[in-house]
Amino acid sequence: MEDEADLPGATPRRRPKPSVLEIGGRKLKPSTLMMGHGFDPALSEGSLKPPIFLTSTFVFENAAAGKRHFEGVTGKRPGGAEGLVYSRFNGPNQEILEDRLGLWEDAEDALSFSSGMSAITTLLMTFVQPGDTVVHSGPLYAATETLIGRIFGRFGVNWLDFPAGATREEIESVMEQAKGQGRVPLIYLESPANPTNALVDVQAVAAARDALFPDSPPPIAIDNTFLGPLWHHPLRHGADLSVYSLTKYAGGHSDLVAGGITGSRELINPIRMMRNTIGTITDPNTAWMLLRSLETLELRMSRAGENADKVCRFLRDHPKVESVGYLGFLEEGGDARQADIYRRHCTGAGSTFSLYLKGGERESFAFLDSLRIAHLAVSLGGTETLASAPAAMTHLSVPDARKQALGITDNLVRISIGVEDPDDLIADFDQALSAI
Ligand SMILES: Cc1ncc(COP(=O)(O)O)c(C=O)c1O
Repeated sequence: MEDEADLPGATPRRRPKPSVLEIGGRKLKPSTLMMGHGFDPALSEGSLKPPIFLTSTFVFENAAAGKRHFEGVTGKRPGGAEGLVYSRFNGPNQEILEDRLGLWEDAEDALSFSSGMSAITTLLMTFVQPGDTVVHSGPLYAATETLIGRIFGRFGVNWLDFPAGATREEIESVMEQAKGQGRVPLIYLESPANPTNALVDVQAVAAARDALFPDSPPPIAIDNTFLGPLWHHPLRHGADLSVYSLTKYAGGHSDLVAGGITGSRELINPIRMMRNTIGTITDPNTAWMLLRSLETLELRMSRAGENADKVCRFLRDHPKVESVGYLGFLEEGGDARQADIYRRHCTGAGSTFSLYLKGGERESFAFLDSLRIAHLAVSLGGTETLASAPAAMTHLSVPDARKQALGITDNLVRISIGVEDPDDLIADFDQALSAI
């Protein structure tokens, strides 16, 4: 591709020095690359860390460069702007963040958004048209279900879903039904699903999609918030786009709201065009905070995962506990289908799980009100342990019959384990269980 420095009168744009991606044939790991990839201190007065670029707009080198940048912004040329233009389109902090985000999943490209929901909305707006039928797994995060069913429904978009653990045959039959209704623009998955932790067989979804739509396969997008980017790499299993609420484990400190999408350049390009138009990019300050968070992502997630395993083993044996819905127990018996998906798709069990207490709302509220280390709050993936009652909080708006079918019962407490000392957490859960 012609470089803008070749244009008449253009000054060479100062580009970051290429990052070191391998040493002696050894491909460097994302946890190493998070410290510096995509940032050249020489472009920022030698600053070791990227400054926060608080500016709404960027000065062009000359008019020809401005034109060329706008060709990228408007999609006349794929791949986005080659230079910095205007903070609704791009910015240094966002670009460094996107370079680093893609590394965890070996993705060609990545985009950052102002929230997980704005990422999902931008994705849907890119691909769907009135009359289309979106095929999705169920359950989905409640706001995503509302978005697809009630909001896009207002614009003539239909949906059909299959349960998270569905087999290839079941998935294919739902896709066939959707195909019979007209265009299927997108297959949208969430795995593990919020709040049940049910896993979707991404390989089976991809096989069914390829069999039914050999000529123009609709993209498969998957919400990878719960286990990604460390323990679940759906792009390797046949998904085309991996979607994140970066508010959760990626941000990791419960102090920001952001979203992300990673995938092939071919699919990311039209999503970027939509984001440029509607303005759903993350802001520079949040992007900077995420860069800081990504440096410790592996450390935080690993510790939280180890803690969760220890805590769940304690909870499982407690007399006031009915059951614990923790992915780490799948291989020890129970649902063989879920265990099979887990074995093929996941490299870790995460730190968010369902605790079913003996009793109902009275018992779960008594437990929640007695916690002294864990905080009573929705959300997940932070350094601190959080606990909430989905039936009465995040999923209050879900109709009772659907709640029952999905296992979102009054005795369910959802817990997201943080990086505290695991034995302190066990002491807290022990005293809260005694208070029931
Ligand atoms: C699985 C999942 N996807 C998407 C979202 C939405 O993300 P955000 O709150 O960053 O918009 C959430 C939020 O809880 C979630 O749990």
